[in-house]
Amino acid sequence: MNPLLEAHGLTKRIDGVLIVDEVDFVARAGQVTVIVGPNGAGKTTLFDCLSGVGTPDAGSVWHRGEDVTALPSDALARRGLARTFQRSSVFPTMTVADNLMVAAESHRRRGLLRGVVGMPEPRRLRHGAAVREVLADLGLTPAAHVVAGELSPGTLHLVELGRALCTGPDTLLLDEPASGLDDTEAEHLHQLLHRLAARNLAVVMIEHDLRLVDETADVVYVMAAGRAVVSGSPKDVLRRADVSSLLFGRPS
Ligand SMILES: Nc1ncnc2c1ncn2[C@@H]1O[C@H](COP(=O)(O)OP(=O)(O)O)[C@@H](O)[C@H]1O
Ligand SMILES: [Mg+2]
Repeated sequence: MNPLLEAHGLTKRIDGVLIVDEVDFVARAGQVTVIVGPNGAGKTTLFDCLSGVGTPDAGSVWHRGEDVTALPSDALARRGLARTFQRSSVFPTMTVADNLMVAAESHRRRGLLRGVVGMPEPRRLRHGAAVREVLADLGLTPAAHVVAGELSPGTLHLVELGRALCTGPDTLLLDEPASGLDDTEAEHLHQLLHRLAARNLAVVMIEHDLRLVDETADVVYVMAAGRAVVSGSPKDVLRRADVSSLLFGRPS
């Protein structure tokens, strides 16, 4: 399958400390690729380097076969690489639909986060169609006019995902999208991500719940102390004794 996002020998130091250590990584269209690993392993920092939030000290990042190592996150977003953060970026006082509308608009005019109300009518209509489609995809249509601050954590996570999808990405990087969700919500979200991948997106996520990883992932990378130590199918990777001791400090 088509590799959308690749990293070769990616290395990042923070204050002289090696946080990401020569990581090779591939995410393919149509697949869910999951990164697991203990806290502090360097997963979020790897995402920063992949998404142009941080500049790697060595190595390269490739998107659709082009070297994008030096590109900042807004340029990568315009190329189709969308990223969510561990902290929510949803505006709590805006409705769900307006949150998505602002994401769609700011994607086009990054840095000019203008009020939706001030948006010229033709553009508003154009984004409106995309927003309606994403709302329907995520089952959020009934909540379109609800103020985001009133939503449950599960629904808020869907809005977060919706904001990323409104930019029309081919590659999605999701940092612990299921954190704070109950089991049913987390499972629902994973099924949704699986369906998105089936539409030929490359879905990449950091996830701790190994039961969910086992169900959803096509490929798993295990990160520990900055290195991608093992990768492969969940069936092969998650049952290895050395992986269990890395993740739980003991063989399971
Ligand atoms: N901005 C920063 N300044 C200093 N240390 C950092 C910074 N960001 C991350 N770190 C350190 O890098 C290591 C990896 O962090 P992180 O990438 O967030 O790991 P993970 O997402 O796997 O939990 C941790 O030891 C963390 O303390
Ligand atoms: Mg993290």
